[in-house]
Amino acid sequence: MPRPVCGVRSGREKPLATRQVAAVQHRYFGNFRPVQFGIRTVKQREEDRGSFILNVSLPLGKMVRQLRIRLTDNRAVELGAGTSLPGLVAAKIGADVVLTDDFHKHEVLENMRRICNLNKLDCKIVGLTWGEWDASLFELQPHIILGADVFYDSTDFDDLFATVAFLLQNSRECVFITTYHNRSGHHLIDFLMVKWGLKCLKLLDGFSFIPAYKASALQGNIQLVEIAIEEK
Ligand SMILES: C[S@@+](CC[C@H](N)C(=O)[O-])C[C@H]1O[C@@H](n2cnc3c(N)ncnc32)[C@H](O)[C@@H]1O
Repeated sequence: MPRPVCGVRSGREKPLATRQVAAVQHRYFGNFRPVQFGIRTVKQREEDRGSFILNVSLPLGKMVRQLRIRLTDNRAVELGAGTSLPGLVAAKIGADVVLTDDFHKHEVLENMRRICNLNKLDCKIVGLTWGEWDASLFELQPHIILGADVFYDSTDFDDLFATVAFLLQNSRECVFITTYHNRSGHHLIDFLMVKWGLKCLKLLDGFSFIPAYKASALQGNIQLVEIAIEEK
């Protein structure tokens, strides 16, 4: 009997030496061996958004599994990784993964290190604040950029697009794949895509990737979007 494509089992495991960890969960990806595998994720303090398991990242995790051919032996960079689910799935299927989050959020970065250890995955962890340029940004050169629920605070959108546009311009044929939970129905993203010379290649309904009982608990809609540079 195949396991669910993305099942969640809350465990009582306490492998992490931190009092902030609230739960370890095991998420399954894939129906059939050998593509089935589990990812352990951790839920931390309530106020720490970067460490929440958000349903918005599940569609991207599943999408990444479907991108196996494009990811194997290629470099994936996850922006605003936090719980890092899509990046961990990419690492499981053989991508060279760099997980990034806000340079100033040491606790989030440290948690990402712990999640990698927990899953025995060798991902590089880099502090990368959107809209800030340092040497590490120039070295990234990804084939695929991932970002789950990174369009959260609209005051960061422009900085995020600045970083994404820079990475896309520096890496030929690179695409940015992101899940976007449109909580308020605004269209700032459409405007910023034009501003930064980007175009939408694919737009999928994120709800079609998650179980109905989870979708029914969410307001608004979740879109899974593939973005590339608009060729002149
Ligand atoms: C809503 S959380 C999403 C976390 C994770 N991707 C997920 O889906 O579970 C937004 C993430 O973006 C990160 N973030 C927020 N502002 C940022 C910035 N200016 N530069 C880099 N990362 C940022 C946060 O630390 C957090 O991890």
